[in-house]
Amino acid sequence: MKYRVDNSRAVESKAEGLVIGVFEGELDKGDFQELDKALEGKLGAMAKRRKFEGKRGQVMPLETMGAIAARYVVVVGVGKRDGATSDSYRYASAVAARAVKSAGVKSCASAMASLAGSEDDAKTIAQATVEGTRLALYNFDTFKKEKTPVMLEEIVILGHGAAAEKGMKNGAATADAVMLARDLINTPANYATPTYLGNQAAALGKKHGFKCAVHGRKAIEKMKMGGLIGVSRGSQEEPKFIVMEYMKGPKSQKPIVMVGKGLTFDSGGISIKPALNMHEMKSDMSGGAATIAVMTAVAIMKLKVNLVGLVPATENMPSGTATKPGDVLTGLSGVTMEVLNTDAEGRLILSDALAYAGRYKPDCTVDFATLTGACMVALGAHCSGLFGNDDELIGQLRESGMRTGDKLWPLPLFQEYEDDIKSQVADVANIGPRGGGASTAAAFLKKHVTGKWAHVDIAGTAFSDKEKGYIRKGGTGAGVRVMLDFIHRRAGLE
Ligand code: BES
Ligand code: MN
Ligand code: ZN
Repeated sequence: MKYRVDNSRAVESKAEGLVIGVFEGELDKGDFQELDKALEGKLGAMAKRRKFEGKRGQVMPLETMGAIAARYVVVVGVGKRDGATSDSYRYASAVAARAVKSAGVKSCASAMASLAGSEDDAKTIAQATVEGTRLALYNFDTFKKEKTPVMLEEIVILGHGAAAEKGMKNGAATADAVMLARDLINTPANYATPTYLGNQAAALGKKHGFKCAVHGRKAIEKMKMGGLIGVSRGSQEEPKFIVMEYMKGPKSQKPIVMVGKGLTFDSGGISIKPALNMHEMKSDMSGGAATIAVMTAVAIMKLKVNLVGLVPATENMPSGTATKPGDVLTGLSGVTMEVLNTDAEGRLILSDALAYAGRYKPDCTVDFATLTGACMVALGAHCSGLFGNDDELIGQLRESGMRTGDKLWPLPLFQEYEDDIKSQVADVANIGPRGGGASTAAAFLKKHVTGKWAHVDIAGTAFSDKEKGYIRKGGTGAGVRVMLDFIHRRAGLE
């Protein structure tokens, strides 16, 4: 996909396709008005007939039959001006992109940024437009004989100046990172093994300029990562501990450590899962995918930050050598863990990665994990669960979530949840009572953490069974956008 900024007016744009955004109830303003004039009032009449009012998700496609340079126009509702966020434009752009896609347009201009009230706004909208458009057109057909080619070759942002340019560039890099994560998630587990993840991370590091070390079983055993070893025992696939380092920030600046759960297939182990939808557990490495994607994007953008990415990768399988309910594992932190349910494996492998993170004396550690069905029950697919031990850090992450539409919402981590995971025989048990599963999982992680830390449970957001705006069925890339924004701001880059 090619991207460029063009400062022509919407009605004069030479691109084949044209997207015009409208706030709800504001059809008497801006680009819509200009276009209506060019079309001799036919646009307004059409809107009346079709009950198009500019509501969020409303879309009105039309062929212009030579009335203006653009052959195909999509007018899209952004929703109410009051309370509009970057996601209003991202979502509207995605809805428009789906219409543009079916019309076979090759070059499409978007006038969305003309809705901006300020320079800052223009940058945000340009970025959201590129992300929404590109991500809505994402396709995963690696394993299909019949490919669905993306007809659109070029996205043109109508706007001018540094703001539009910067927003477009950020948007393109961000969309690429999200799509990289989606590819890794969608790749089936017989291909996307721990070894594959390690190879991909190493190749991306080499290509884009971050260090990557991939530790195998021997090294993991030697390091005494008992959680990762314990979970991997049922599988024929070798576990990997992937360490990525990008240290291009000031020497004095402590690194941000991002940790991602890299469970390439979660069958539940001996505490095996029901068959229904078990195939979706190929997505249990979504946190790891996000981590690899964020490292790659940060390296491509050459950000002046210190960033470490850690991905413990393994399968969770039942077998004669698998960890059994009641077994006790000793993690890297020295904490002993009673495995009451082998399906609560994510926290076991994350415990080692979180303990390892402490070696960097980080500014902060943020982990992303498809950790609990309970979090999915609590929040659904609209936001990820957010936990942590530092209110400022939680606040910043939450803000980045709102800025990017990759939303996070705080859940509690009271002392009581830690009491809930006491074990009869070990320092901690890997499950708690029936209720509060997302919080007891977070309480388990907390036992292995040093310093400022946040945990993001993406169980409900990482994988979609619905098409919605810029979300396609399958891996969503949850965590990538919010983390890229957080890193920018935490490191004071903009
Ligand atoms: N990977 C799952 C959580 C999950 C469930 C992610 C559904 C996405 C969709 C995790 O390893 C798991 O199995 N968690 C258990 C924990 C329980 C045994 C305490 C769960 O949530 O049921
Ligand atoms: Mn599990
Ligand atoms: Zn899992």
